[in-house]
Amino acid sequence: MAELAALTEESLPPDPLALLAAWLGDAEASGITNPNAMALATAGDDGRPSARMVLLRGLSDDGLRFFTDQTSLKGRQLEQNPRAQLLFYWGELGRQILIHGQAEKLAGAESDAYFQGRPRESQVSAWASEQGSVIASRDELLARVKEVAERFEGEEVPRPPDWGGYIVRPEAIEFWQAGEFRLHDRFVYRRDDGDHWVAERLSP
Ligand SMILES: Cc1cc2nc3c(=O)[nH]c(=O)nc-3n(C[C@H](O)[C@H](O)[C@H](O)COP(=O)(O)O)c2cc1C
Repeated sequence: MAELAALTEESLPPDPLALLAAWLGDAEASGITNPNAMALATAGDDGRPSARMVLLRGLSDDGLRFFTDQTSLKGRQLEQNPRAQLLFYWGELGRQILIHGQAEKLAGAESDAYFQGRPRESQVSAWASEQGSVIASRDELLARVKEVAERFEGEEVPRPPDWGGYIVRPEAIEFWQAGEFRLHDRFVYRRDDGDHWVAERLSP
């Protein structure tokens, strides 16, 4: 494992999103595959948790953005219950970050802008796939891809109405740095009444 500065009270910035951005930068620089991959955990009305990986496609002061089929299981669960948890894990760096927050659909214009920047093949796939629905065969999927590609031939592929982004607005963020002999460093930031972030050390 690469030698990393320990996570200490003195090294914590006032804003956890700055630390998140710094750790993401370290993960990118380390050359690991998909450093922006994060697990997204959701639960709908039935209370059954479900998790899957998604890619972080934007990080700003107001939160973390990802894009998906909004009729998928995750989309339906977020409709019923916007509470979500995101989890980054970078094994090579001995680090994980947990983010509790509320997910909100992005405005159509922002999803449009992101969709228009995608490769045409990915745009076509978004139309051809109803994420999570049962299909008879891969051939059926490829036939749909062909049909969609023909339908939009010679024109810009519009964003499918049910495809778009979410922003997760963080309410608590925990940073975990592996330490020797299980003496890991854990700090959780939570918002206080005055809307400032307050960090506390957690027992590993
Ligand atoms: C590394 C990785 C990144 C992924 N990124 C996304 C993504 O950004 N958006 C997405 O909808 N699915 C992504 N997927 C697929 C999801 O994990 C999942 O299969 C899909 O979204 C359906 O999830 P659901 O049925 O729980 O809604 C990714 C999978 C992996 C392994």
